Amino acid sequence: MKETIIRRIDEESITNRIREMAQDINRDYEGKKLHMACVLKGAVYFACELSKHLTMPVSIDFMSLSSYGDGMTSQGVITLNQDLTQNIAGKDVLLVEDIIDSGRTLFYVENMLMKREPASFEVCTLLDKKARREADVDIRYVGFEIEDYFAVGYGLDYAQKYRNLPYIGELQFKED
Ligand code: IMP
Ligand code: MG
Repeated sequence: MKETIIRRIDEESITNRIREMAQDINRDYEGKKLHMACVLKGAVYFACELSKHLTMPVSIDFMSLSSYGDGMTSQGVITLNQDLTQNIAGKDVLLVEDIIDSGRTLFYVENMLMKREPASFEVCTLLDKKARREADVDIRYVGFEIEDYFAVGYGLDYAQKYRNLPYIGELQFKED
């Protein structure tokens, strides 16, 4: 099978939208410090771009989770590969994700992090595949709501490939 990528969201639209999201966050967190908790690896590109447009004092930490293997469907089991390095108690935490699909990963992370008693907890995602939602999760900031296609680029991968594409594409498989 040959992998083909159809362009869906170009780089300029992504960066413009990220600037708009940053403005919303700047308004909502005025006078506060923001602690970004970024989910590796996919959300790194988005989190870095977003952070450049934030005007409050910002700190950033990373955690790694697995819910997908090298395939395209969730394994249903979420594993914490690497936890945050800093304590989040009393902090205004913004969880940064690349995409929310079933919402199961987010549900797991939120339950885990809420036990650590942050001052506040909100979620920011570049992409939202809302139609596929299974878990009851609340997302404060959404970049783009997308249809049910497999997205790659701007941090999102298929079998660790395509993260470095500057745009969001739809991955399709064609017969050789
Ligand atoms: P969820 O637990 O079903 O919401 O899945 C969340 C995780 O699955 C995301 O953080 C991604 O790592 C991965 N994922 C879900 N949909 C896609 C996609 O379309 N492209 C790439 N990764 C995806
Ligand atoms: Mg992810």
